[in-house]
Amino acid sequence: MATVSLASYAVLGIQAAILLVMLFGVYTMKVRRRTRPHGTIMAILVVVNIITVVAVMTPTFYDMAPAPGAAGASLLLAHHYLGLLAIILTSVVAFTWVLRGAKDKGCLGTGRRGRTIMRTTLVVWTASLLLGMAYFIAGL
Ligand code: HEM
Repeated sequence: MATVSLASYAVLGIQAAILLVMLFGVYTMKVRRRTRPHGTIMAILVVVNIITVVAVMTPTFYDMAPAPGAAGASLLLAHHYLGLLAIILTSVVAFTWVLRGAKDKGCLGTGRRGRTIMRTTLVVWTASLLLGMAYFIAGL
């Protein structure tokens, strides 16, 4: 059984919380049609996610240096690359909105392609979170 640091357990809990709050963020938009709370919730989650990635996940990943073909290596790499894509997508969506003054008009969720951008961002982010959790739980 691998030794797992307390920080890694904390990150697992934070990532599970991000997933739950993200679902609530989707609810505020889809059911309650409230754009600003939706954007605010998602932007906060994007920042929390980046902090956990920089502070814990990245150093842990490079410490581990998984050998190709090792058990779980492909799961970890899938999580790694999907996670990088999720950070890019979520940062573009959230920070372009924040930097334009958090107004409906300056948001990538509005307009013709808004729904597609939102759904793609959600799917990529959720998939990367679930893959990370699966890798962590499989290694316990
Ligand atoms: C970065 C993380 C974000 C994720 C994962 C996300 C996810 C979603 C999802 C799943 C929907 C529902 C799409 C549907 O109707 O099926 C949605 C809708 C929407 N989101 Fe986001 N969102 C994010 C950030 C933002 C931000 C920062 C804004 C800016 C205000 C925003 C504005 C909108 C708008 C306006 C809609 C309605 C789109 C429509 O129904 O045409 N989202 N979002």
